[in-house]
Amino acid sequence: MVKIAPSILSADFAAMGDAVREMERAGADLIHVDVMDGHFVPNLTFGPPMVSAIRPHTRLPLDVHLMVEDPGWLVPLFIRAGADYVTVHEEGTPHLHRVVTAIREGGAKAGVALNPATPLAMVEDILEELDMVLLMSVNPGFGGQSFIPKALERVERLKAMIETRGLSTLIEVDGGVTAGNADQLKRAGADILVAGSAVFGAPDRPKAIRELRG
Ligand code: DX5
Ligand code: ZN
Repeated sequence: MVKIAPSILSADFAAMGDAVREMERAGADLIHVDVMDGHFVPNLTFGPPMVSAIRPHTRLPLDVHLMVEDPGWLVPLFIRAGADYVTVHEEGTPHLHRVVTAIREGGAKAGVALNPATPLAMVEDILEELDMVLLMSVNPGFGGQSFIPKALERVERLKAMIETRGLSTLIEVDGGVTAGNADQLKRAGADILVAGSAVFGAPDRPKAIRELRG
């Protein structure tokens, strides 16, 4: 079954503990934490202290998405703060293998994210080392943007690449995910759907999560 990872980027920043507790009760599978540095993307969010602050409020895995230039130095800080998954952007570092190795050696699961225009080939030679590939279905930086339809075909091609090699790398899709495209994404091979506005903007959040899961 597909997993749902609500993004706390769309939650009330003054009540993050409540937000993650609510998401756990509502049936979420992971908590997606969007870290933005104001350089890699034109927005600024939070650092490791936010992860340590929410850690005691949920048992769900914390899925930390680093939209950060040169993320290497931040990796041990986020792992120490309680991150379960650490995902870095391929476009953010010339030393992807080194960063991925550091994530795994630090005891966390390693993900690599690709922007909508980055060829899938950029993860081809590191796929064996990855627990997850995050495909962006919007340009990173903000919640509430519209889904870029081309992402569907990218999920299919990545799924084929993973299966051909007999790997169990997870595919996470992030950006503009709604109840209207979740089914297609699942059929294309997505394992985890990130949803910010589709969950936090819904009047009935548990229902929104159930509808995404389908
Ligand atoms: C975008 C972030 C996403 C974002 C998703 O830069 O990486 O995780 O919060 O928000 P929605 O679901 O509203 O597109
Ligand atoms: Zn994200």
